[in-house]
Amino acid sequence: MSGRPFLQIPGPTLVPERIVRAMSQSIIDHRGPTFAALVGDILVGLKTVFQTQHGQAIVYPGSGTGGWEAAIVNTLSPGDRALGVVNGHFSNHFCRTAAAHGIEVDRLDVPYGSGVPANRVAERLRADSTHQIRAVLVVHNETSTGVTSDVAAVRRALDDARHPALLLVDVVSSLASIDFRFDEWGVDVALTGPQKGLMLPPGLTILAASDRAIRASQAAKCPRAYWDWGPVLERNKRGEFPYTPATALLFGLRESIAMLQEEGLSQVFARHARLAEACRRAVRALGLGILCREPREHSNTLTAVVMPAGFDSDAYIAHANRTLALSLGVGLGDVKGKVFRIGHLGSLNELELIAGLAGVEMTLKSFGVPVTLGAGVAAAESYLMDR
Ligand SMILES: Cc1ncc(COP(=O)(O)O)c(C=O)c1O
Repeated sequence: MSGRPFLQIPGPTLVPERIVRAMSQSIIDHRGPTFAALVGDILVGLKTVFQTQHGQAIVYPGSGTGGWEAAIVNTLSPGDRALGVVNGHFSNHFCRTAAAHGIEVDRLDVPYGSGVPANRVAERLRADSTHQIRAVLVVHNETSTGVTSDVAAVRRALDDARHPALLLVDVVSSLASIDFRFDEWGVDVALTGPQKGLMLPPGLTILAASDRAIRASQAAKCPRAYWDWGPVLERNKRGEFPYTPATALLFGLRESIAMLQEEGLSQVFARHARLAEACRRAVRALGLGILCREPREHSNTLTAVVMPAGFDSDAYIAHANRTLALSLGVGLGDVKGKVFRIGHLGSLNELELIAGLAGVEMTLKSFGVPVTLGAGVAAAESYLMDR
C-alpha cells in the first residue's frame, strides 16, 4: 500500500522525522565525554517532563514492564504488604509483578472502565493503623480501558491517613501527554517507556525516584541485579551506565525532550485534550459507547470504544488492518473481543486524527456495523473548528 500506514494504537506512536534523524547519527563511545554530555542533558531534561526538581531520573534499556519490576525490587522486600488498585489489564500486571517478587498485594479491584477510587484507598489506609502497607501501586492512565485516575487524590488519601506508604505510579501512557506532577503529587516512583508520549521507538525503561524511594532502596531486600538502580545512579554521576546503553534511543530521547520543551508541556497537554475530545465526539456521533464511565476520567491519550453487541472487536481490528492498513488497539484482559482502542497521543495533529477517524468509519461500515459514513468525522471537525 502506498502512503503511510496508520498506527492509531495507544503506543508505540509515530516517530517524528526530527527524532528519526537524531537517532540515525553514528554511535559514539559510551564512556567518552560526548556521551557524558548526552547523559547530563537527558537526566536534567527528564526532570522537566516528570515535573520534578527533587526526583532522580533513571534510564535503562528495557520497556514499561521492566519499569514495574524496577519500581518494586528497588523499594520493597519479600513479605512486605502493598495496596494495589486494579482497574484494568495493566494495573493487574503491575500487581502480579509485585506478587512475583514475594510482595503480599492487597488488591482493590474495581470494574474495567472505572478509575482509582481514592476514597476506598483512604479507607484501606486508615484501617492499616500499624502501617503494614509499604507501598500503594496505581496506574495513572489505564491503557486497557482509557481511564485516567486522580493521582493527587491518592496522595491526599495517604496524607489524610498520615500513612507513610510509598506511592508507586505507572505513567506509561500518560507522561508527556497528560498532566503528571511528580513533586506536587508526592509520588515516590513513576515509571514509563519511551514509545508513547515521548514519541520514540520502544526500548527504554524510564523512572523518576524520590529521595524517600532512594532511601528505601538501601533497606529493600528484593533480589536485584539488572534493575538495581544503585549502580546506575552511581555511574550516572560520571555520565556513564553500568552496561552498554541504548545510545541511539538516548539521542532520540534528547530530541524528544527538546521538542516537548519547544511546544511547552502545558500546550502538549492541551493538544492531547483537544484531540481526545474530538475523538470522543466522533465515537458518540457514530452511535458507539465509550468504556470509561466518568467523563472526568476520560483519557486524553486513547479512547476505548465498546463494540456493538454481536460484533467481535478482534475480528474488526484484523479487518481494519487488512483493508486499510489501519492499526487499532485490541481489547485486553476482561474486555478482550469487546472493545477496540483508538490511540490519540504523541506526535499527532488534527488532520491525522481526522484521517484515522475516517478509517474507523470506513472499516466499521465494511465490517457490517451500521454506522453513518461521515457522522463521526463531521462531529470531530465541528468541534475542532469551533475551538
Ligand atoms: C499503562 C501501561 N503500563 C505498562 C505497559 C507495559 O509496557 P511495555 O509494553 O513497554 O512493557 C503498558 C504498555 O502498553 C501500559 O500501557
